[in-house]
Amino acid sequence: MHFELHRSLAIFLGFFLNKSLVKSDPQQLDPCTNFYKAACGNWSTIHAGDPYQNYLDQLDYNYHEKLAALLEIEKKDEDEPGFQQLLRDYYTSCRQPLTKDMALRTLERLIYIPILGYEELIVGLIAAFRYQPLVEIKSSSDMFLFWMLLITREDEWNANETNRELMSRQDFDLLWEDMPKMRHIQLNKESIWTEVSGLERQMQSYWDTNDKNDVQAPPTFWMLPWPQEPYYASVIYLANLLAHTSHRVLLIYIYLRLKMIQGPRTTDSSWLIMQRVECAEQCRQFLTHPAVWLIERNHPRLKEESVLQGIFNELKQRFGQKLRANRNNFSRQTQQFLLSKLERMTLRLSVLPRKCSNETLERRINRHYRDVRLNSSDYFGNLWTGLKHSSVQKRRVNRLLLVTHLPSKHSLLPVIAHQFGTYASPFYIVNHNMLIVPLSLLGPPLYIPDQKQILTYSSLGFILGHELTHGFDPEAVIFNSRGTISSTMSRQLKRNPRFQQELSCLNQKFGGNKRDEKFADLNGLELAYSAYFDTAQTDGQRDRNGSGSIAQRQQFFLNFAQFFCSSSDLGEDSREHGSDRQRVNDAVLNFEPFLEAFGCPSSHNPKKQCRLF
Ligand SMILES: *[C@@H]1O[C@H](CO)[C@@H](O)[C@H](O)[C@H]1NC(C)=O
Ligand SMILES: *[C@@H]1O[C@H](CO)[C@@H](O)[C@H](O)[C@H]1NC(C)=O
Ligand SMILES: *[C@@H]1O[C@H](CO)[C@@H](O)[C@H](O)[C@H]1NC(C)=O
Ligand SMILES: *[C@@H]1O[C@H](CO)[C@@H](O)[C@H](O)[C@H]1NC(C)=O
Ligand SMILES: *[C@@H]1O[C@H](CO)[C@@H](O)[C@H](O)[C@H]1NC(C)=O
Ligand SMILES: *[C@@H]1O[C@H](CO)[C@@H](O)[C@H](O)[C@H]1NC(C)=O
Ligand SMILES: [Zn+2]
Repeated sequence: MHFELHRSLAIFLGFFLNKSLVKSDPQQLDPCTNFYKAACGNWSTIHAGDPYQNYLDQLDYNYHEKLAALLEIEKKDEDEPGFQQLLRDYYTSCRQPLTKDMALRTLERLIYIPILGYEELIVGLIAAFRYQPLVEIKSSSDMFLFWMLLITREDEWNANETNRELMSRQDFDLLWEDMPKMRHIQLNKESIWTEVSGLERQMQSYWDTNDKNDVQAPPTFWMLPWPQEPYYASVIYLANLLAHTSHRVLLIYIYLRLKMIQGPRTTDSSWLIMQRVECAEQCRQFLTHPAVWLIERNHPRLKEESVLQGIFNELKQRFGQKLRANRNNFSRQTQQFLLSKLERMTLRLSVLPRKCSNETLERRINRHYRDVRLNSSDYFGNLWTGLKHSSVQKRRVNRLLLVTHLPSKHSLLPVIAHQFGTYASPFYIVNHNMLIVPLSLLGPPLYIPDQKQILTYSSLGFILGHELTHGFDPEAVIFNSRGTISSTMSRQLKRNPRFQQELSCLNQKFGGNKRDEKFADLNGLELAYSAYFDTAQTDGQRDRNGSGSIAQRQQFFLNFAQFFCSSSDLGEDSREHGSDRQRVNDAVLNFEPFLEAFGCPSSHNPKKQCRLF
C-alpha cells in the first residue's frame, strides 16, 4: 500500500532484469503516445551527476543531508534526551574508517551465535562485501534476491582480490588453526571442511573456469572462483545455491575466504568508508523516532501540516461526492459502509505524536529504544543491533495489526526499516484506516511554501489521492472504518454486477498484480484534478482563471508526470506499479480531461475506462 517500492532495491533489481534487454524505444515526444517522455525528456541527462535517481530519492537525500549536518554539531545541550546519544553513537561509528580487521572480528562473533537469523547473515555479508544495499533486505524470504544483488553488483573491483583456485585442504587447515574458538559452541572441523569444499565445487561447477585471463568484465567479487562472463543461468543457479546454504556455513566460508585475500585495499584502513549521507540514512532507518525528533526540532514544518490536511479533506469530499452518486446502485447499507470509512479515514503526518508535551514525547521515545545499546566504535555491531531492533518492531507492528482496536492516534508509531516513516514515501495502513505521510515529503522540489496551488494539487494532491484510494481498492475495500474485515461487504460486492464488471475491466487491462496500484493512480489523478479544477465547492480558493485554461490544464498534467521522472527508465522497476513511464502513461491515457487538454485523437482513447466507483 505504499507509494513506491524503496528505490535502491527496485533500481538494482530493475537494472539486473533489464541488462539483457535491448532498448529499442524510439524517441517519442508526442504527448499522446508517450507522455512520460514528453514530460521528463532529459531528466536523466540533467541529473546525471546527482546522487539520487528520482524525486522521492532527492527528498530523502536532502533530508539525510540535514540530519548529517545536525549530527556533526558538537553536543551543546547538557540535558538533551538520552536517545540523541544513540543517534550520535551510530553516526560516529559509521563515519570512522572501517578496517578489514573490524570485518573479521565481526564475523568471528557472528559465527558463534547460537541461532543465526537473516540479520546476522546480512551484517556478515555487509562487513565482508562492503555492500550497503543489503541493509534493505526485509526477511529471509528475500535471500535469493539478496544473492542476485551481490553476485551481479557492478562496482570498483580489484582483480587481485578475486579467487581463481578452490580452497585447498592445506589452506583450510592453516586458517582453521588461526580461527578463535569458543567453548559454548563446538564446530566440527571435518564437517565444516566437507561443507565448505563441497560448496566451492558446486559453485565452480556452474561454469568453465579454464579461462585464466585477467577478468575484465564485472560482475565479480572475491569470494568465488569467478568466470569471465557469467551466464544468466549460472547466476540464477548460484544465487539459488547460496540462498539455500546454512547461514553458519556461509559465514564461516566468507570468513575464511576473507582472511585469504590479499591486495592493496585489504590491508589499510580503507576497507569500507561510509559517506555522511549514507550514515545519516541508516540513522534514520534504525533510529527513526530520534532522527525525526531532531529534524523536526530544527526544521519545524507545522505550517505545511495544515496545507496537507486541507488538501486531504478536499480529496475526501470529492471522493464522497463520487460515492454518493452511487453509480453501482449499492444498497443503503453498503453506501453507509463506504462513506463512514471515508469519513473516518485519517491523515497522520510524521511518526511522532503531535498532541503531547515535550517531556511525554521524550519519555516515549526513550522507552521505545530502551533496549538498544550502541557502541560509538563498533559500526558492524551497531548495524546488527539496528537490524534486530527493526525486527522486534516488525513483530510489534504485526501484532498491532492483528488487534482489532485502534491504537491511539497520538502514540508513537512503530516503524520498520524501509517501511512507513523511514523514508519519504507515504503509506495507507489498512488496519488503521490511516494515511501516514512523513513530513520529509514536503520539501523542494516537490513542495515549496507558498508555491502555486496548481503545483501542489498536481503533485501532493495526486499522491494523497492515490493513498486515499487504497482504502477502496479491490483488496482493501472490504475492511471497515476500524480496519476489520467485513464479510457482509465482501458478499455485497460479489453480488454487484457493475462493480464486478469494472473489476474485471481492471484485471484485464492491468493484470492482478498491478490492478490495485493502477486503480489508485487512476482514481488519485481524477480526485486531484477535480479538487483543483472543479468549481463546485472551492470557488474563490484557487489562484486560477475561470474554469482553467488549456495551458493550466496542460501544466497540471506536466507537473503530475514530472514527479515520476527518474534516471532509471528501466522498464519494470516494481512488480506492483510497473515502470514510471508506464505508470504515467497509463494514468493519463485513461483520463478523458487529459486527452482533451492535449487534443489527443480519439483513437488513443481506450474503449473502456475502468471505474470501480
Ligand atoms: C538532452 O541533453 C543533452 C545534453 O545536455 C543534449 O545534447 C540533448 O540535445 C538534449 N536532448 C533533448 C531532447 O533535449
Ligand atoms: C595485482 O597484483 C600484481 C602482482 O602482485 C600487481 O602488479 C598489480 O599492480 C596488482 N593490481 C592491482 C589492481 O592491485
Ligand atoms: C437499483 O437497485 C434497486 C434495488 O436495490 C432496484 O430496484 C433498482 O432497479 C436498481 N436501479 C438500477 C438503475 O439498476
Ligand atoms: C518543546 O521544546 C521546543 C524546543 O526546545 C520549544 O520550542 C517548545 O516551546 C517546547 N514545547 C513545549 C510545549 O514545551
Ligand atoms: C565497543 O567496541 C569496541 C571495538 O569493537 C570494543 O573494543 C569495546 O569493548 C566496545 N565497548 C563496549 C562497552 O562494549
Ligand atoms: C489569469 O489571467 C490573466 C490575464 O489573462 C493572466 O495575466 C494571469 O497570469 C492568469 N492567472 C493565472 C493564475 O493563470
Ligand atoms: Zn500505491
